Amino acid sequence: MDTTAQRERWLAAIAAAADQAALAELDARLFGAKGEVLELVRSVTTLPKEQRPTFGKAANAVKQDVEQALAARREQFAQQSLQRELSASDFDPTEPGRSRPRGALHPITIVQNELVDLFTSLGFQWQDGPEVESEYFNFDALNIPGDHPARESQDTFWLTEQPGLGKNLLRTHTSPVQVRTLQRVVKQGFQPPLKVIVPGRCFRSETVDKSHEHTFYQMEGLVVDRVHGDQGISTANLIHTMKTCLRVILERDLQVRLRPGFFPFVEPGFELDVNCPFCSGKGCSVCKQSGWIEVLPCGMVHPNVLRQGGLDPEEYTGFAFGMGLQRVVMLRYGIDDIRQFMGGDMRFLQQFPEVSR
Ligand code: PHE
Repeated sequence: MDTTAQRERWLAAIAAAADQAALAELDARLFGAKGEVLELVRSVTTLPKEQRPTFGKAANAVKQDVEQALAARREQFAQQSLQRELSASDFDPTEPGRSRPRGALHPITIVQNELVDLFTSLGFQWQDGPEVESEYFNFDALNIPGDHPARESQDTFWLTEQPGLGKNLLRTHTSPVQVRTLQRVVKQGFQPPLKVIVPGRCFRSETVDKSHEHTFYQMEGLVVDRVHGDQGISTANLIHTMKTCLRVILERDLQVRLRPGFFPFVEPGFELDVNCPFCSGKGCSVCKQSGWIEVLPCGMVHPNVLRQGGLDPEEYTGFAFGMGLQRVVMLRYGIDDIRQFMGGDMRFLQQFPEVSR
């Protein structure tokens, strides 16, 4: 049998196939059941033994060539139909893709996450509290009675009174979670030491300006432990914890100083200042030439607060702090206007490093 003539005939048929359907038909005729090409290969068995090797080789080579030609023609048709599709629509495959902007974390969230990581690594637990708070937890339980001037210094958003629900407000600080936490753990059978942080949103009816917002973020910290002999939680513990925290968050070693500060729920109370990171304490517009920036109100938990929490102040002592998160973020990134945080300007928000968490 003349394999060369067969080959030529088949290749010519493939080249002549007009479209994909014709090619599929040809494929079936050549390679399907009783397909011509397969029959050619099989016909080797009908030959005398000595002719078989030469013929077998030739037949297989033809089969391979025909298969390749079929595949090439199929690909050609596929390309043609793709081209047809492309030129029929206005799709331009050379145009660069549309970019999909990736979301990123808000700078307050970035710093809050870092603080939570730091404090949890020191053994603190995350506590939440309600943003709609009662007058009792926001003020009374914190040793701020009704006629106390400290109430006026926190311009409160009061909520309309609901019968039977007492007076409610939008919490003016995260401190109400101090007594909430103490009461809860005492009820559950308190085991000192207790170390909690409370990141959260607070509200004050303030005139908004460069450094005041009506809605802001704080992170409360509370540490309470039993007094052993004359050893209890002390101001030294407080200072050490605060220094560690500021060093990590502001990414540099800073000098700190304590000044007396008044908050009814701590005694003694302090304002913790850091050496101005913008001018290294030389004096600049950010620190109003003083060389120091106030970052952290804090102090030793007042005995009345421990009592409200259900603890005996003779047996337990503690410290508390209330960090203004925006203030820390501003120091960290050199932001000079607190209104930027909630302003919704994408150009501001896109400047912060994306973090992989
Ligand atoms: N809650 C206080 C405020 O918002 C800050 C503070 C917290 C002070 C804890 C002392 C201890 O002003």
